[in-house]
Amino acid sequence: MGSSKDEQRTRADFSQRYATERTTALEDIERRVIGAAWAANGFTTVRQANRLGEIVELAPGKHLLDIGTGQGWPGLYLAKRTGCRATLTDMPLEGLAAGLRRGQRERLDVTGAVVASAKALPFAPESFDAIIHTDVLC
Ligand SMILES: C[S@@+](CC[C@H](N)C(=O)[O-])C[C@H]1O[C@@H](n2cnc3c(N)ncnc32)[C@H](O)[C@@H]1O
Repeated sequence: MGSSKDEQRTRADFSQRYATERTTALEDIERRVIGAAWAANGFTTVRQANRLGEIVELAPGKHLLDIGTGQGWPGLYLAKRTGCRATLTDMPLEGLAAGLRRGQRERLDVTGAVVASAKALPFAPESFDAIIHTDVLC
């Protein structure tokens, strides 16, 4: 299935954003605003991410899918906090590549990073124990 004009525009906008180098100044701002520096691109705070992890009952052995993850927020953070396994998905490759690098640096259990629109996800039913998305407008 081809992607819509909206999807193409979103992919182009966010690809550019995720290809931009992150500075220590940006990370300082992120720490002050949301409480941690995980390359977030939205307004979800650490407190809200923690609550989300509790609601979907993340724990070691559980498999989490983070849709529209950008560069891995909050999926990677929740994998670190709870010990769960994470799969990341979004449309721009640049964000997923950065997320994978961060996952490796943090030695997290990241099963995959999949380029896909949330409108047509390539996963079989019941592949995940929990599915989240933050600040994603499809
Ligand atoms: C504001 S960013 C939020 C990123 C991350 N979840 C966060 O909270 O930092 C929105 C993300 O949603 C993704 N997105 C928008 N429409 C999408 C769609 N149809 N399918 C998958 N991802 C989509 C964008 O590519 C972008 O990475």
